[in-house]
Amino acid sequence: MTLRIFCIANQKGGVGKTTTTVNLAAGLAQLGQRVLVVDLDPQGNATMGSGIDKRKLELSVYDVLLESATIAEARQRADKSGYDVLGANRELAGAEVELVDLERRERRLKAALQAVRDEYDFVLIDCPPSLSMLTLNGLCAAHGVLVPMQCEYFALEGLSDLVNTIKQVHANLNPELLIIGLVRVMFDARITLQQQVSEQLKAHFGAKLFNTVIPRNVRLAEAPSYGLPGVVFDPASKGAQAFVEFAREVVQRHG
Ligand SMILES: Nc1ncnc2c1ncn2[C@@H]1O[C@H](COP(=O)(O)OP(=O)(O)OP(=O)(O)O)[C@@H](O)[C@H]1O
Ligand SMILES: [Mg+2]
Repeated sequence: MTLRIFCIANQKGGVGKTTTTVNLAAGLAQLGQRVLVVDLDPQGNATMGSGIDKRKLELSVYDVLLESATIAEARQRADKSGYDVLGANRELAGAEVELVDLERRERRLKAALQAVRDEYDFVLIDCPPSLSMLTLNGLCAAHGVLVPMQCEYFALEGLSDLVNTIKQVHANLNPELLIIGLVRVMFDARITLQQQVSEQLKAHFGAKLFNTVIPRNVRLAEAPSYGLPGVVFDPASKGAQAFVEFAREVVQRHG
């Protein structure tokens, strides 16, 4: 099987990028896929949410971007969840500035991933809520972008910056890059507006919209404080089951 590298991106904050990253990773791992999560956000939420203490990282994605460590040296195992993590913490915020004057600054992650390409089926890159140099490194390294969406007013308008950035990266830096798909998250079927926006997304994106819908589910929100993806924390919960189903759909479509 060939390696698939996906960015989980949306420049809007708090839409569910990190929750999607760690739960999709855990779901894929349950299906026997070999997964690496790359935390590209200085908040380090994907790191913490995978049970790895961001304050105790000896090496992180920061060292990889600055080429002072390889991924093989810096990654850690999320034991209970069955995937590897290239962690991040606040130090990563400095990379933004430090990379500016360096050569191939937006291709650092892509280059580093080459060395581990045979070890994984999926690499999932959790992007920060911005279109920064960090996100650019993710987009340059990826085959495609997975976009978590909340079905709220202006959902479509909010996507236009991301879609434009993806087009530019596609044209100038990474001709492989495409939108893999949009996934509806934190969905509440009781809210008429959400149903309406969901229908709009279907009409607008067609087959690019994943069939699986992730419901709003409190167990998914509780799981990070235990250092676990919801899929591992409470496998019987509606949220966990939806993410495992989503992982299955991702493998069917892109495995
Ligand atoms: N399906 C869900 N049901 C309930 N709560 C959720 C769900 N998905 C995410 N959340 C909660 O919503 C909040 C934002 O989610 P998350 O951190 O995944 O978003 P994000 O896009 O990564 O945020 P940021 O832009 O800050 O990186 C978190 O508290 C998370 O636990
Ligand atoms: Mg996040």
